[in-house]
Amino acid sequence: MKKPGNIKIAFSLFKLVDSLLWAMLAAILLGTLGFFAAIGVNVFGALALAKILGLQSSLSYPALFALILGCGLGRGVLRYLEQYLNHYLAFSLLARLRDKVFEALRRLAPAKLLDQQQGDLLAVLTADIEALEVFYAHTLSPVAIALCVCAGVLVLQSIVAGTLMTLLLTGGFITIGILLPYLGSKVLFATAIEYRKHFAAFNAFLLDSIKGVREIILHQAGAKRKEEMSRRTGQLLSSSHQLSQKNGFLSALTQIILTGFYVFALWLAIKQYQSGLLSVGSVVLSLVIYYSSFGPVLALSALPGNLSQTFAAARRVLALLAQKPLVEPVVNGQDFAFKSLTVSDLTFGYQEHRVLDGINLTLAKGEILGLQGQSGCGKSTLLKLLLRFYQKQGGEIRYNGLEIEEINTSSLFENVSLFTQHTTLLNDTIANNLRLAKPDASEEEMEAACRKAAIHDFILSLDSRYESQVGLLGDRLSQGERQRIGLAQIFLRNTPVILLDEPTSNLDGLNEGIILKALVKEKANHAMILVSHKASTLKIADRIALLDGTGQLAL
Ligand SMILES: Nc1ncnc2c1ncn2[C@@H]1O[C@H](COP(=O)(O)OP(=O)(O)OP(=O)(O)O)[C@@H](O)[C@H]1O
Ligand SMILES: [Mg+2]
Repeated sequence: MKKPGNIKIAFSLFKLVDSLLWAMLAAILLGTLGFFAAIGVNVFGALALAKILGLQSSLSYPALFALILGCGLGRGVLRYLEQYLNHYLAFSLLARLRDKVFEALRRLAPAKLLDQQQGDLLAVLTADIEALEVFYAHTLSPVAIALCVCAGVLVLQSIVAGTLMTLLLTGGFITIGILLPYLGSKVLFATAIEYRKHFAAFNAFLLDSIKGVREIILHQAGAKRKEEMSRRTGQLLSSSHQLSQKNGFLSALTQIILTGFYVFALWLAIKQYQSGLLSVGSVVLSLVIYYSSFGPVLALSALPGNLSQTFAAARRVLALLAQKPLVEPVVNGQDFAFKSLTVSDLTFGYQEHRVLDGINLTLAKGEILGLQGQSGCGKSTLLKLLLRFYQKQGGEIRYNGLEIEEINTSSLFENVSLFTQHTTLLNDTIANNLRLAKPDASEEEMEAACRKAAIHDFILSLDSRYESQVGLLGDRLSQGERQRIGLAQIFLRNTPVILLDEPTSNLDGLNEGIILKALVKEKANHAMILVSHKASTLKIADRIALLDGTGQLAL
């Protein structure tokens, strides 16, 4: 896929300004006035000097003094307001962008997120979005301000000093404000994109290492990991070095060229004075305007250094926002209250890899269907399809006779819950982890669910009981304990259909017994599919289906 150009990216970013356009326009107006106030200080200063030298007399000293003071104060106030508005705009937009990214993550979840490197995502969410501040606070309005100020200054210059000086000034503006930034962008962009890429990859690698630190230690792979970490740090350092070098070179070049323009302007003004085309007053005024008008374009010449990073970051943020989820949530479909599930002739594969091939099954309230099959045969995949994490490729999945694609996603989740092979607990209290499944759960409800999941007594043994922080418990929570908290969530959620993927894989016989008994007790009001390798667990199933290696289900 062709990468979008910078102009397209700038346009996409600009479109996000939307309802904050007023702040941008106000910042442009105030910024332009601010620059003219700054030029005014010099111009009225020069006029005062001219008056001392007896060259002009139309304004009195007090008037000139008031004008200089007014311009100086005005400059300060106007600059403050401009900066305030620009940053208000920028940070409001960053907040909106974060919202959008989270919204995108919600859309993409859960199927697509599993593919994305988590460290990479973290970089998009934090550093990349933050980098866009440069675009909103230091690019959009400064460009517009530069255009307004330059146009105004050129008109002023043509009145004061005629065509030649105006042409020279135009040349200066174009060189410093357009040609040099363009050259800068050519020189910097590739390095900046490289840097951003290394930065995100480094984040991903670091997060991976932290998560896998136990395995790294146990397999004595620390030295190798460290070596790789050093290599990546070196890579990051080298691309940031390159960036700084190129940036330094560009700003030096800009200053040298600017000085060249200053000298050239002085020479031209003297020549014009000597040939009688300009008076002393015009020469002085013209040079003062000339020398004090490069502020806004100089701000532009510094842009590529910052913008190269910003566009690289924007590219990654916009790419995430544009990603299509594997399945679109259904919002205008139908709601249902579970009575039956019928799967017929279901086929599905990941890319070319066919996993399920013509699956048929039925499930009704009051039933537990056991699902058996060797590792990798597609049991978890089948359960995920029943929640439409992926788009099935053939056949039908019908709840109450309704095709799964016609059912509102929210209704599907209200009717069907899935206990996955890996319980992830959030860094919060046990109670709040339980409330994820049912936000308004009372203490009694939580306790009842935990009793069913054979975890209540364990929780009571903790110092802070239900208020214990999962993060602080760290390794104290065994896999089995985590699994049982996950099961308690499922009991709390209490949906009509419960899909259980290896719910007892980490449990001893005693706890397994308690949980199986609870499941059997719940059976009357629920329909369950129970995936397990354990014969002891599958004993509670009413029927057992075997998923064979060819993707077919035998009952
Ligand atoms: N996101 C994915 N992308 C590509 N292939 C996948 C993906 N998830 C699973 N697979 C593959 O699909 C096949 C079925 O996986 P699945 O997780 O459904 O097996 P399973 O029967 O649940 O195995 P286990 O008993 O080990 O949990 C496997 O070969 C697996 O490698
Ligand atoms: Mg599985």
